[in-house]
Amino acid sequence: MSLKGKHIGVALTGSFCTYEKVFQELQKLADEGAYIQTIFSNASASIDSRFGEANDFVKKAEEITGIKPMMTIAEAEPIGPKALLDILVILPCTGNTLAKLANGITDSPVLMAAKAHLRNNRPLLLSLSTNDALGMNMKNIGLLLNSKNIYFIPFGQDNPEKKPNSMIAHTELLIPSLESALEGQQLQPIIC
Ligand SMILES: Cc1cc2nc3c(=O)[nH]c(=O)nc-3n(C[C@H](O)[C@H](O)[C@H](O)COP(=O)(O)O)c2cc1C
Repeated sequence: MSLKGKHIGVALTGSFCTYEKVFQELQKLADEGAYIQTIFSNASASIDSRFGEANDFVKKAEEITGIKPMMTIAEAEPIGPKALLDILVILPCTGNTLAKLANGITDSPVLMAAKAHLRNNRPLLLSLSTNDALGMNMKNIGLLLNSKNIYFIPFGQDNPEKKPNSMIAHTELLIPSLESALEGQQLQPIIC
């Protein structure tokens, strides 16, 4: 399935170490000819870290997509009633956002986008990046794996010796994961 002309939401949360790869994938999506609406969580819109300045990431997202990022819950809400997106990916998805999503909490622009989009019975893809995937968040991953319209970019352990509970998505599989999810399929193998 071609992504050309598809309306794709890309919601960024505060796993800043992944941003270099995330922006490479964003560029690839833009090159495919998709309309890309980015959405920033409060953390992703405000935290400056050793991985870069928040404002620079917001600017870069607008440069790549040509569309102003959504930065507030009020801006993200119309995704539901106006059915703005064919698919939404949370890229990257922190442990924080994953846990809230699994428990029906909607207190950031990204979670508002997810809730609004899911109400339309359309696919939501998650690009996991969290140090507690095999710990505190395992139960939430289990809940989401078993939830209607939710898919995962295949993921695996990134540093079993130093971070035994950490798991991270293979962001380079974004495009095939989007294509599969749009067809109602989970890209396999999911753990790799
Ligand atoms: C430099 C830095 C790197 C971080 N990396 C991660 C990460 O990879 N995964 C994660 O789950 N949280 C990470 N965090 C913590 C989240 O940013 C924090 O939980 C925040 O509340 C997430 O909010 P959000 O999910 O609404 O974006 C990091 C924080 C900082 C400051």
